[in-house]
Formats: sequence, C-alpha cells, structure tokens
Amino acid sequence: HNVHVIKHPLIEHKLSILRDEKTEPFHFRLLVDEISYLMLFEATRDLPLRKVSVKTPVAVAEAQKLDAKIMICPILRAALGMLDSVFKLIPDASVGFLGFQRNEATLEAEFYYAKLPADHKERTAIIIDPMFATGGTAIDAVNFLKQKGVEDIRFLALVSAPEGLKRFYEVHPDVPVYTACIDEGLNENGYIVPGLGDAGDRVFN
Ligand code: PRP
Repeated sequence: HNVHVIKHPLIEHKLSILRDEKTEPFHFRLLVDEISYLMLFEATRDLPLRKVSVKTPVAVAEAQKLDAKIMICPILRAALGMLDSVFKLIPDASVGFLGFQRNEATLEAEFYYAKLPADHKERTAIIIDPMFATGGTAIDAVNFLKQKGVEDIRFLALVSAPEGLKRFYEVHPDVPVYTACIDEGLNENGYIVPGLGDAGDRVFN
C-alpha cells in the first residue's frame, strides 16, 4: 500500500490527549490543529523545488523555492479544524471545499457541496480529514477530484481504520495516504476502534 504512517513523539503524545473522552472541545480543536501541522510537514516532504538566486545583504545565494501550487481540500465539517495549521505552513495555498456526509444508516458517503479554485487542475491537492473510517468518503472525494481533472492528489488523515485503507487502495492505488495511526478496526456502527469518537461532533458540537 501507499500508506505513510507518520510517527513522532510529539504526535503520539498529542494523539493520546486527543483520544481521551475527557478532553474538552476547545482543547480537542487545538490538538487537531497541532497534529495536522506536524503531519503536514512530513506529507509535503517530496514536493518539488526550483532553483532561484537570492541576493542576501552579503552575496548572491543559490536557493530553492516551492515549485508546486497547493490546493488544500478539507472534507466538511471536521477538517475545518485542520485548516489553520495549513495556512501557517503554506500561506499561499488555495482551498477547495468538499462536502460529504456519511449516512449513519448505510455508512455510504453522500455528496452535498464542492467549491474548488478555478485553477484546480494545475494544483497538487492535499485532502484533509481527521477520520478515515470505512473509506467511503475518501474514495468519493478522490473520485470527485479526478473527475475534475486534478492529477496530483494526496490524503492526510489523523486516524484511520485498516478496512477503509484496504478498500481505498482497491480503487485509488496511486494516491498516498498520510496518517498518524492505523487503529484496530471498525465497530458495528462504522466507528474507528479505539479511534477518537465523532471528530465533527467533538470539534463543533
Ligand atoms: C466523518 C469524518 C469523515 C467520514 C469518515 O464525517 O470526518 O469525513 O465521517 O467516514 P468514512 O471513512 O466511513 O466515510 P461525517 O460524515 O460524520 O461528517 P461531519 O464531519 O460533518 O460530522
């Protein structure tokens, strides 16, 4: 599989507090943002660079700048809590919003909204979502971007389930997934076990 599990002591520590049912919404939001920041650092490690010359006060330096235009695609709602960290690291990223709501009876993802920047085809898309459960939302989100002509797509999820990743890779083997943890699995309600609960509810309710 094309899965990258990002391990780091700071991420492990923050994840342990994030998972705790006693963690309050304001603290939960802060942790989602902090963990996303640390993960994004790794998930962008292979972005292309171009050579530039920069005149320092002393001499001319051969330096490098990013040679990719980024489009961050938060999946509503929970991923909105990850967006601040993206702007801290990549201030000139565009944002393409994707609205998918998981039907809690069928566990199928239902599309309800999208708004992409006009030049989305030229951009490297980084889809963000705290949770990767059955994988239905992730599969549909990548399908949507591919249909819109986006070629370079990667996915960043804080916590994921092995069943969802397996299903995803049967459809999108070309898309790398960056995650902080692959948990044990899904329960009968399609929740990640042990997971961290319903991220959208814990961020916004
Ligand atoms: C959650 C989560 C993912 C999706 C994952 O969102 O944030 O988007 O479910 O589930 P899947 O892998 O089984 O498709 P939800 O649909 O609850 O929407 P919300 O963020 O608006 O609460």
